[in-house]
Amino acid sequence: MVTVRAMTDRDLAAVAEIEQATFATPWPAAAFAQELHGNDCAHYLVADANDQVVGFGGIWIVTDQGHITNIAVQEDYRGQGVGGLITDGLIALAEQHGVVLMTLEVRRSNLVAQRLYAKRGFVARGWRRGYYTDTGEDAIIMCREKRGGVIGWIHPGDRNILR
Ligand SMILES: CC(C)(COP(=O)(O)OP(=O)(O)OC[C@H]1O[C@@H](n2cnc3c(N)ncnc32)[C@H](O)[C@@H]1OP(=O)(O)O)[C@@H](O)C(=O)NCCC(=O)NCCS
Repeated sequence: MVTVRAMTDRDLAAVAEIEQATFATPWPAAAFAQELHGNDCAHYLVADANDQVVGFGGIWIVTDQGHITNIAVQEDYRGQGVGGLITDGLIALAEQHGVVLMTLEVRRSNLVAQRLYAKRGFVARGWRRGYYTDTGEDAIIMCREKRGGVIGWIHPGDRNILR
């Protein structure tokens, strides 16, 4: 059975291993340690399958906004709902902290992750051109507003609102 719980120091080696196997410019274990101990905004969860860490995800929460930093699942556990559990855990954590707007960046080509987020109410709102330095790929910015939230969206035709 897979459960989602808060990341601790004991998870750092396993988390760094998944990170290394997953991302082109991986964070070292020390970066996750810094997140756990030196960043009051940061909250990290791991997916635990019978005492084995098989995935993780993180979010920075500042006032009423939450930014998902990373989510990764060990390759042989993908497609079994683990990424969904982690994302649901981050959404629940954010809502417990009063977050009304969640944001994240995802590679334009990463349709699996985009589908995962879209199923949970995230909507593509914009992009950052050439955001990923390894390939120069654009990031799609996805946002999830808590129902009944207070954030308004400015559309290109609404520029006068800013004056
Ligand atoms: C993205 C990632 C975290 C998803 O984790 P996962 O455990 O495989 O995801 P789940 O099994 O919970 O699937 C959740 C949803 O993702 C989508 N999905 C998952 N695997 C998919 C696949 N092979 N093809 C298409 N969609 C897929 C589906 O919408 C799925 O929901 P559904 O099965 O109910 O239709 C995982 O693939 C991963 O670690 N990828 C590399 C790192 C990464 O891209 N992180 C995100 C950075 S923004």
